[in-house]
Amino acid sequence: MSAKRILTVSSGKGGVGKSTFAVNFSLALSRIAPTVLVDLDTGTSSVRNTVDAPVRKDLYHFFRKGESLEACLTTLPEKLDPHGYFRQFAFVAAPKHAMEEFINFEEMHRYRLMRAINELPVKFVVLDLRAGLDAAVLDFLPHSNSGILVFTPHHPAATAAAGDIVKALIFRKLRLVLSEEGPLARDAEARAHLATINALLDRVEDVYDDALPNLDVFLKDLLLALGEVPAVRALAETVTSFHVHFVLNLFDGVRESYEKAIVPFVTFLQGHVSARLKLYNLGWIIHSAEVHEANCRRFPIVLQNPDATSPVAPRLGPEQLESLLLGAPMPSPLPPTRDFLLDVNPEAALVEQLEVLHAMQRDTATRQVRDNFAYILRRALHALHHFPVESFGQRRLLTPLELFEALAGRPLTL
Ligand SMILES: Nc1ncnc2c1ncn2[C@@H]1O[C@H](COP(=O)(O)OP(=O)(O)O)[C@@H](O)[C@H]1O
Ligand SMILES: [Mg+2]
Repeated sequence: MSAKRILTVSSGKGGVGKSTFAVNFSLALSRIAPTVLVDLDTGTSSVRNTVDAPVRKDLYHFFRKGESLEACLTTLPEKLDPHGYFRQFAFVAAPKHAMEEFINFEEMHRYRLMRAINELPVKFVVLDLRAGLDAAVLDFLPHSNSGILVFTPHHPAATAAAGDIVKALIFRKLRLVLSEEGPLARDAEARAHLATINALLDRVEDVYDDALPNLDVFLKDLLLALGEVPAVRALAETVTSFHVHFVLNLFDGVRESYEKAIVPFVTFLQGHVSARLKLYNLGWIIHSAEVHEANCRRFPIVLQNPDATSPVAPRLGPEQLESLLLGAPMPSPLPPTRDFLLDVNPEAALVEQLEVLHAMQRDTATRQVRDNFAYILRRALHALHHFPVESFGQRRLLTPLELFEALAGRPLTL
């Protein structure tokens, strides 16, 4: 099957505008290529409550009635899309009521859904994940990047939770790289170090253990103790190639966003994860009554008075789309492992993020909330095109078994 990209939208906490973003972003994406939004959150403001489309079948039918996922797609009625600009959009609604299979997501059900998502005949799949960080959520998230995180300067706990997601994802990846069945275990020299390194990694992950606060200190210690052995190199590459993508919702100005969202987020990552992750701000969504009213009317803002032309000009041809979906090659030499011996200036990342905010503010496409989504879409397309596929979203969802197979074949570029 031709290339596809699965983009998750997540936030550690509810109420930050995750669904609002997921709905409007996938609508914007659908003007580029066929897109399906899958609602994996049964919260109070699930997708079906903000899109006024009659849902004939939803995930209930997928789980309980043996329906295919394709049979559970809902498209937009004419009243929401009178010109047919959004014909390439469809969504899968979450079940109306809490369902055991869905809430606890037994593995069997989860893997069936993952496979069905992989088989959807579309170019983009957007997953609106629920809050929290249990296996049922983690399994849908990428392995080498954060997917799209949504947080807001108005909800400090949600910003902290977004940092926790990044931490959980990168530690999960490191555990895979370091596991007994992983790519390093076949190398005798690397194997000898795995148990020790894993035990140390436990201490990095443990926030109550101050001796090894983050991966930078950990890698520096490992380098000093072991030198540039394969296990250390693999860990260093996993850290330096990890991309974090985020959207700021309820934006009220550069200064406020910087102080209340960017600084705490970046500081958390530097302090508890690593100062070497790649951070990519996709854009913001203004705090606007229009957005909320659109949700309440179940007529998403991106559907209201849309332009005849796609927000991304010129239209992408099939080849351009294919190359976009395939992404860029992995960057030739990653920073040398011994860079971990040097200290990173923590201010530099903050300055860079502040500059990004100022640059965004100068761009007119960030002023009206309606244009915010087109702007974020442009940044997302840029990321798809210019970053390796491993850096933004996923090509397909991998069950743990498939993951080990992938690891065995291509050690570091999941
Ligand atoms: N940019 C915004 N401006 C104003 N209200 C917003 C904005 N984004 C979301 N909201 C409102 O905030 C509430 C939570 O948004 P929602 O998308 O349901 O969050 P989540 O999916 O994270 O729980 C909803 O009432 C929604 O209408
Ligand atoms: Mg939601």
